[in-house]
Amino acid sequence: MEKVVRQHLEMEQFFSGFIATSKPRQQVPPNQQDQRAVSEKLSLLEELAEQIRECRKCALGALRTNAVPGEGNPDARIVFVGEAPGADEDAQGRPFVGRAGQLLDRIIEACGLRRGDVYIGNILKCRPPDNRDPRADEIISCLPYLQRQIEVINPEVIVALGAHAARTLLNSTKSIGQLRGHFHEYCAGLGRPPIKVMATYHTAYLLRNYSQENRRRVWEDMKKVLAELGLPIPQAPRR
Ligand code: URA
Repeated sequence: MEKVVRQHLEMEQFFSGFIATSKPRQQVPPNQQDQRAVSEKLSLLEELAEQIRECRKCALGALRTNAVPGEGNPDARIVFVGEAPGADEDAQGRPFVGRAGQLLDRIIEACGLRRGDVYIGNILKCRPPDNRDPRADEIISCLPYLQRQIEVINPEVIVALGAHAARTLLNSTKSIGQLRGHFHEYCAGLGRPPIKVMATYHTAYLLRNYSQENRRRVWEDMKKVLAELGLPIPQAPRR
C-alpha cells in the first residue's frame, strides 16, 4: 500500500509541472472539406466499434463484460497502442482508464497535449482472463480491427506501449529494451507510406518499475515523438 501511495506521489511529480517552451499553436479552424473528412473518419471508427462490440472471433468474446474498441481523436497525429484491456477497461468499455491509464494521461499532458488530441487503442479488444499475455491466435483474430483503425485515422506516429504492442506492430521478436528509443516503420498497406512507430515502456511496466531511469527513458522517447511532429517540447521542471 505504501508503495502505491509513494508511486502516486512520484507520478504526480514526475510527469507534471512541465513548462511549455512556446505558446500552443493556434488551432486553424478546419474548412468544410476537412470537417467532412473528419466526420467520415468518425463514422468509420464508430462502425468498426460496433463490429468489435459484437465480435466473437475468439474465446475472449464470451468472457468480456465490455469490448474496448478504442477512443480519441479520429484525426489524431499520434495513436497510442497498448496490449489489452484490464479489469477497469473491461468494466467501462474504455481504454486505459485504470492506474496505467492515469499514468498515460500524465504523460500525454506532460507532452503539452490532452487525451482528446490523441487516439488510444489496444492490440486486443477484450480482456484476457487474469490479465494474462495475449495469445497468438487472439492477436491474429483481433489485429485486423486495429489495422483498420490505423488505416482510417492515418496518424503520423504510433506509440507502441510495451513489448506486445511493439512486437505485433513491427512483426518483431526483439525485446522492448531493444525496440524502444528509436523510430521504426509500420507497414500501413500496399500503396500507402509507412507510419513511424516509437516503442516505449508500457505504463503498467513503468508503475511496477518506477525508477528515475525508466521514467527518463519514457520521457526521452516522447520527446523524440514531439520533435518528429514539430511540436514544442515542454521543459521538465527543476527538482
Ligand atoms: N493496459 C493496456 O494495455 N491497455 C489498456 O487499455 C489498459 C491497460
